[in-house]
Order: sequence, then C-alpha cells, then structure tokens
Amino acid sequence: MIENDSALNATIEALTARGKGILAADESLKTIQKRFAPLGIDCDDTSRRDYREMLFSAPGLNQYISGVILYEETLKQKTVQDLPLPQLLKQAQILAGIKVDLGLIDLATHSCEKTTQGLDGLDARLKEFKNLGASFAKWRAVFTITSTQPSQAALFANGLALARYARICQDNGIVPIVEPEILMEGDHDLARSAEITEQVLNSVFGLLRNQNVCLEQMILKPSMVIPGEKAACVSVEKVAEATLKVLLRTVPAAVPSINFLSGGQPEALATAHLNAMNQQLKHAPWNLSFSYGRALQHSSLTHWAGKTEYRQQAQTILLKRARLNSQACLGQYSASEE
Ligand code: 13P
Repeated sequence: MIENDSALNATIEALTARGKGILAADESLKTIQKRFAPLGIDCDDTSRRDYREMLFSAPGLNQYISGVILYEETLKQKTVQDLPLPQLLKQAQILAGIKVDLGLIDLATHSCEKTTQGLDGLDARLKEFKNLGASFAKWRAVFTITSTQPSQAALFANGLALARYARICQDNGIVPIVEPEILMEGDHDLARSAEITEQVLNSVFGLLRNQNVCLEQMILKPSMVIPGEKAACVSVEKVAEATLKVLLRTVPAAVPSINFLSGGQPEALATAHLNAMNQQLKHAPWNLSFSYGRALQHSSLTHWAGKTEYRQQAQTILLKRARLNSQACLGQYSASEE
C-alpha cells in the first residue's frame, strides 16, 4: 500500500535525487567529543555549533547533498548570525533530518549484544522536531558478528524497534531512515559477513511488514558486506559483488533508496565501493547512494581542527568528498581524482 501522504512523497523525492546523498552529521555528544579530542578541539556547544555551521554553509553543497542528519542539539542551535541551523540548511536547499534514537544499551542476558533505546515518547518528540524543521529521521541498531552472534533475541529486539520507530515516523509525516549496522569489529570473513547481513535484512524487512511500514516511504541505511577488521581484506569488486547479491535477495524493489553508512572505512575506499556497486548493477531496483558520516567528514574535520582560518579550506575538502561520492552514485568516480 502506498500511503497518500504528499509530504512523505515530496521528502522521498528530494532525498533520493539522482547523484545526491546524505551527510550524517548526527554524532552524539560522546561521539563528537571522541572525534574532536585527538585534534585538541575543546568540545562544547559553541565548538560543536561552529563545526556544524562550517559544514552546512559550504558553498554549493546541495549539488551533491540532499539532506543532513542532525543531532538534537544541532537542530535547536543558531548560527553566529542568529539563524537556526535548520533554516541555514533550508536556505541552501538541503533537507534537515534528525537522529531520534537515544543510543545503545546492553541487551539483557546477551553478553556484548546491544539494543537501541528511544521509543518511549517518540511520537511527541517527532512532533517537536517536525516543528523545528525536520522532515526525515534516523534510528541506528547495531549487530555484532561472532561465531554465535547475532542471537535470535538481538535480531528480534532490534528489528522490532526499527520497525516501530519507522511506523511512528510515517504516522507523523517524517521519512524514516532504517539503519541496521553490522559492525566491522571481529575476524569474520566476507562469506560470514554476507550470511549475517542477509539474516539481519530478512529479519528487519519481516518486522517492517509486521508493523505496516510503507516501504515506498522509507530509506534503508545498511552497512556494506565487508570482512571484519581483523580479517584479510578483499578487493573493491568482491565487496561490491557480495553486497549487491545480499541486497538483491533481501531488499524489496518498493524501497526507493539504499544509502550506505561508511562504518569506519577510509574515505576513498567507501567511495570506491559505492562506485563499483553502481557500475556492476546496470538495472538497479533502488537508488544506491550514501549517508556517510566519517567518510565525508574525516579530512575536513582534521583540516579545520577548530580554527576559523582553516574554515574555507575545510569546506573545500568537504565539497570534494561530496562531489566524488556523487560521482560514485552514478558509477562515474575515478580514483585518479583523489
Ligand atoms: P559513518 O558513515 O561514520 O558510519 O556514520 C554514519 C552514521 O550515521 C552512523 O550512525
């Protein structure tokens, strides 16, 4: 059933514009502190605002970026000139999104596995976020791969939370980004990564159906099928092939767009993987794009390092990464541009 909600349809159309992707700038307070610390940047509300304002005001960013995912603090912050940051994005013709999950907690009785909290009160929070200018949202669930994990309990608890979140978003006219992230931690090989990704996505889509989530009005944000960080690397082509095989088996063609997370991959590698997938898949049932955090921001943040005098160069670096990923969405990226 395609629901007749023109706001949801308009958001999907804008977010999935060909050759554009999403900038994930929704790091929690703890995560952004972890990114700032090695660069000696004091992490306070002003430095976080200055950093995000620098990113969002990069001239022409909307040629490559259709939406930015914000952390709640950022949604409520104003520029130095007193303009709310969602308004700054609106002026740049970029949609504002909001991370609505409240982070990970231990999955009781399942050692080392996690579940995501934030469903209580979500309906009221979404109404507030919509008033502040958000038109889409994100919820992240994580799965770890070991010889015995993810457990059935982790698959069910996380899939159900993603599905309930997605349905509550759609009821509020907000497009949900459904993010089941399979972590790179571990020594699993490519085949095990493919096996678990298939299991996770099958489970997630079963539960999305169970909760009557409209597939046409959501975006999937998965991890790519890659070996664990302690396992031997495989070629870009093999990652692309394995990822496409799993996605074709599990993701209904009704889903308009798959926007990958980068998950700690180096910037150029995340771009090369996306490009290879778009080259290999000639008749994709869905748009294949990006919703990168680190793989868009890392070099830009490192260059900026909290210094106003480096602001413009940091923006140039962000724009280059965004442009290369935009080319990767079209299968037209060339590594010689790095
Ligand atoms: P990374 O691309 O750095 O994995 O971040 C994407 C994201 O939104 C994580 O939740």
